[in-house]
Amino acid sequence: MLHQITLAATLAAAILPSCVSAGPLSSPKRGLVFTPNSTTRGDDQIWFQKPSSLTWYYNYKAAPDDVYAKISQSELEFVPMLWGTPKTVQDTSFVTEIKKQIKDGRNITNILSFNEPDAPYSWGGSNMDVQTAAEVWVRNIEPLREMGLRVGLPACTGASTGINWTRNFVKACNDRISQGGLAKNCSFDFITLHWYGGFEGLASHMGQYSAEFPGTPMWITEYNFADQSLVDTQAFYNISAEYFDRLPEVERYSLFGAFRSDVSNVGPNAAMLNNAGELTDIGAWYLGRQGTGVLPTSKKSGASVPPQVSAALLVAFGLLALVC
Ligand SMILES: *[C@@H]1O[C@H](CO)[C@@H](O)[C@H](O)[C@H]1NC(C)=O
Ligand SMILES: *[C@@H]1O[C@H](CO)[C@@H](O)[C@H](O)[C@H]1NC(C)=O
Ligand SMILES: *[C@@H]1O[C@H](CO)[C@@H](O)[C@H](O)[C@H]1NC(C)=O
Ligand SMILES: *[C@@H]1O[C@H](CO)[C@@H](O)[C@H](O)[C@H]1NC(C)=O
Ligand SMILES: *[C@@H]1O[C@H](CO)[C@@H](O)[C@H](O)[C@H]1NC(C)=O
Repeated sequence: MLHQITLAATLAAAILPSCVSAGPLSSPKRGLVFTPNSTTRGDDQIWFQKPSSLTWYYNYKAAPDDVYAKISQSELEFVPMLWGTPKTVQDTSFVTEIKKQIKDGRNITNILSFNEPDAPYSWGGSNMDVQTAAEVWVRNIEPLREMGLRVGLPACTGASTGINWTRNFVKACNDRISQGGLAKNCSFDFITLHWYGGFEGLASHMGQYSAEFPGTPMWITEYNFADQSLVDTQAFYNISAEYFDRLPEVERYSLFGAFRSDVSNVGPNAAMLNNAGELTDIGAWYLGRQGTGVLPTSKKSGASVPPQVSAALLVAFGLLALVC
């Protein structure tokens, strides 16, 4: 262990000064995945306190939640999401809702489409076949794009089936549009993806999408290193945030973790809040502030025990060396 710590410290000293900026980090790309819980509504305010590096958010819905309805787009941009199949495939209430918000003065400029259509409802996915998705897209997303809004491709899971679903979807969407007699293809402005593994896998997943859709900007709208030790989760957080901020093709990203650790479905250490609703280190870093030392699993504030250096951390430092 001592040897590992020495090695890690040496690597860190060699790499960090030139690569990771010390102290708070702010990012114009960074957003919030808003996942409120009715038993802890007091936590909702945390994400909008200043100073904060957050510039945008989404909540898996077409309209903002009541607690945030008064926040202007220029303060914190709300990005509506269609999520899945509406009540019927013919339903166009999403378009109606977006037009209404624009008419009421909300300057909506970006739209997210389906959430994990390649996963079943039981996993939080929207469980869509590509033909249905194409039909819903043509009725609800194309009209918004014609109005000048920027739209994102569906966000599939990080599973290897996800990219195939996306590829099949684009084909189904093109076919559906040409059946309508229009001389155009299914159009979109950015790719959207999710990831819940380590950094190496994330970088490779992003590479696959870049190869499939060259030159298309990328939004990583859900990500974290699920079910890991605190130090490995923090190392992943640091290296991925730095990577996203540096890569020009990453337009936006949003960490999945804006909740307390005891309700986390991606492991307690991925949470940005402890069980008293206080920001953890990752929570504070994500908002661009100094670390708090608050352990994710704690119920009250208190100094954290320094996390132990592990093999994964060494790998992360090695990767930092490669990507810097
Ligand atoms: C909300 O919080 C309560 C209390 O911690 C928990 O039992 C419940 O599962 C949470 N709901 C969701 C949807 O996470
Ligand atoms: C709406 O938002 C876009 C993108 O941020 C901006 O360029 C534009 O000026 C805004 N329009 C108004 C009327 O505020
Ligand atoms: C990808 O989708 C096509 C069309 O549905 C299917 O034939 C093929 O088996 C899929 N490939 C993988 C690796 O899932
Ligand atoms: C649609 O995309 C296909 C495949 O990329 C391309 O060959 C075709 O020219 C495109 N059609 C239009 C109208 O843009
Ligand atoms: C992550 O970054 C913070 C500050 O930006 C630093 O204090 C912390 O030691 C880093 N942790 C790891 C495991 O890299």
